[in-house]
Amino acid sequence: MVIGVGFDLSSTASWKSLLDEGRTLAIEEMFTPAELERARQHPEGPAPRLASRYAAKEAFIKAFGRNDLALREIVVERRENGAPYLTFSDQLLDRIPQIRTFSFHLSLSHSRTTATAVVVIES
Ligand SMILES: CC(C)(COP(=O)(O)OP(=O)(O)OC[C@H]1O[C@@H](n2cnc3c(N)ncnc32)[C@H](O)[C@@H]1OP(=O)(O)O)[C@@H](O)C(=O)NCCC(=O)NCCS
Repeated sequence: MVIGVGFDLSSTASWKSLLDEGRTLAIEEMFTPAELERARQHPEGPAPRLASRYAAKEAFIKAFGRNDLALREIVVERRENGAPYLTFSDQLLDRIPQIRTFSFHLSLSHSRTTATAVVVIES
């Protein structure tokens, strides 16, 4: 049964500005080292993947219906075929064990200007 759907979009240009301004501490608060590394591997630089992953975290929060979650606790991973999926920090799983009982579906897209994410949660 579907228990939540979330959609979000994020400006790729805004992430580029943050990076140009050297706001790395703010960025590191939102993403894991693995997410940052994957973002750096994009041919156009980190901004598109930071934007899409930020959108994914926000979309998850909308779908899950709670806004007391730290963005860094919600993690976007990548399958071998390129498909993204969500995982969660151990702290979040300990705090909200119910998360382990749900299935999560994530789809991302990004352009030079905008990134989008959709999250569906099933029980
Ligand atoms: C996977 C595919 C649909 C991505 O579409 P796109 O328009 O190139 O790129 P988008 O910006 O919309 O989406 C990119 C995101 O798709 C996701 N993605 C990549 N491979 C995926 C897959 N196999 N399944 C689901 N999602 C995938 C990733 O999250 C990726 O973002 P990321 O690299 O930052 O993680 C596309 O590369 C593809 O394989 N198309 C098949 C048809 C084709 O090759 N057409 C071109 C020749 S006619």
